Amino acid sequence: MLKLNKRFVLLSLVVLSLSLSFGMAPNAQTADPRDTQLDVHLNPHDVMGVESCEKCHAAEISVWKQTPHSTTFLTLHRQAEAQQIAGKLGISSFKNDSACIKCHYTMQAALSGIEAISGVSCESCHGAAKNWINVHNEYGGPGVTRESETAAHRLERLRVSIGAGMRNPINVYMVAQSCYRCHTVPEERLVNVGGHNAGSMDFEIVAWSQGSVRHNFLRSDGQSNQPSSPERLRQMFVAGMIADLEFSLRATAAATEKATFGVNAASRASRAAKRLAAAQGKLSQPMLDEILAVYQSIELKLNNSNQLIEAADSIAALGIRFAATVDGSQLSAIEPYIPSQDRWK
Ligand code: HEC
Ligand code: HEC
Ligand code: HEC
Ligand code: HEC
Repeated sequence: MLKLNKRFVLLSLVVLSLSLSFGMAPNAQTADPRDTQLDVHLNPHDVMGVESCEKCHAAEISVWKQTPHSTTFLTLHRQAEAQQIAGKLGISSFKNDSACIKCHYTMQAALSGIEAISGVSCESCHGAAKNWINVHNEYGGPGVTRESETAAHRLERLRVSIGAGMRNPINVYMVAQSCYRCHTVPEERLVNVGGHNAGSMDFEIVAWSQGSVRHNFLRSDGQSNQPSSPERLRQMFVAGMIADLEFSLRATAAATEKATFGVNAASRASRAAKRLAAAQGKLSQPMLDEILAVYQSIELKLNNSNQLIEAADSIAALGIRFAATVDGSQLSAIEPYIPSQDRWK
């Protein structure tokens, strides 16, 4: 029998019970109805900003400050390429116009209105924090520590924070979804009219998360920044392939004309499905069969958004379940394909 570690089983229960009771919508963080004009991933009324994490996550913040995610806030509007895209789209203000704010900035509601407060921030990947910031680290009363917290309390803490919108890396599919939501660039006009690149075609979650953007301080001593374990990297690698398929289908769903955007999105979806099928050839995981069957049942064509979005939603639910129930020890056959350290960005 497989020996699953106790922590993993516990967390699987949290995420499974969540995905059953909340339906775990892939776009759980849709914009506030008050901001229907604003096209953003996070509800600006629930965004706390990087400063609100500083007291406890200073190390993570100092890494983040060196990354393009942070520096895009200061550099984007100065780049000739960006100005060209903006010119073609008739954009006058990068930080106020919805065509760029979705992926390059973090928007927060202030007294004076909705404003860009930073580049791609902690909350862009981990979810707007207002409703979970005071829950995710609360071990169960004064004097209780990480070590002495009861298992039941931990379960409840994770359940409540994920239910409140936290994309907790405990389920690697949740953070993979964050990456692909932006890195597939699912915006037809931005690509076809603006000339923005049609997504990071070589995006792969292990290579892109373990290099310069890595900030794994919590799991070690708080001082050192360790890459994930080989078991977790395997799980992340496969979760990334699933998320690539999910978000390529979402991008294809947004395609209305046969031009760069639609062609790219569809070929990306087909590539993602082929990769997943090849991985499944080594892994023989029933859940991957279910995902591939969803893909087999659809048509990758223009103006087919209902069918494609429904398929993406099914794949999202399976992706969450995959990361919650399939441990890296069951994925050792994929080991030779994991990007090695020299390829980490
Ligand atoms: C008052 C201290 C404090 C603040 C403020 C805080 N955190 Fe945390 N955070 C913690 C602690 C403690 C943990 C470890 C929780 C555990 O043991 O599961 C943690 C864990 C996390 C994790 C990893 C989840 C896990 O369970 O492994 C993420 C992601 C995270 N915090 C993000 C944030 C973000 C983003 C902010 C700001 C919006 C923030 N935190 C603000 C203390 C804090
Ligand atoms: C749907 C998400 C999304 C939107 C919306 C978006 N971008 Fe991007 N953009 C990205 C991603 C992801 C990258 C990184 C691509 C890579 O490195 O593979 C990027 C990269 C860029 C780059 C290249 C930056 C560099 O340093 O190489 C420019 C320029 C750019 N975007 C301009 C814009 C402008 C201008 C807008 C608004 C009109 C915009 N983007 C809207 C996702 C987006
Ligand atoms: C809110 C949108 C967004 C999310 C979420 C996001 N990214 Fe990015 N990412 C960008 C943009 C935009 C850029 C380019 C910024 C620039 O150069 O101006 C970028 C750049 C990068 C780069 C630098 C690429 C290079 O060529 O140097 C890496 C690495 C990266 N992202 C990894 C990730 C990973 C891994 C995730 C998920 C864990 C992720 N990103 C999530 C928008 C996003
Ligand atoms: C580009 C997306 C992205 C951004 C931005 C981001 N994170 Fe993360 N975060 C991740 C991913 C992916 C992981 C899991 C990495 C892994 O397992 O190797 C993670 C893991 C964590 C963890 C757990 C680390 C551990 O050792 O287990 C904490 C805590 C955390 N993030 C806090 C933050 C804080 C605070 C910020 C802002 C300064 C931030 N994150 C910004 C994607 C992101």
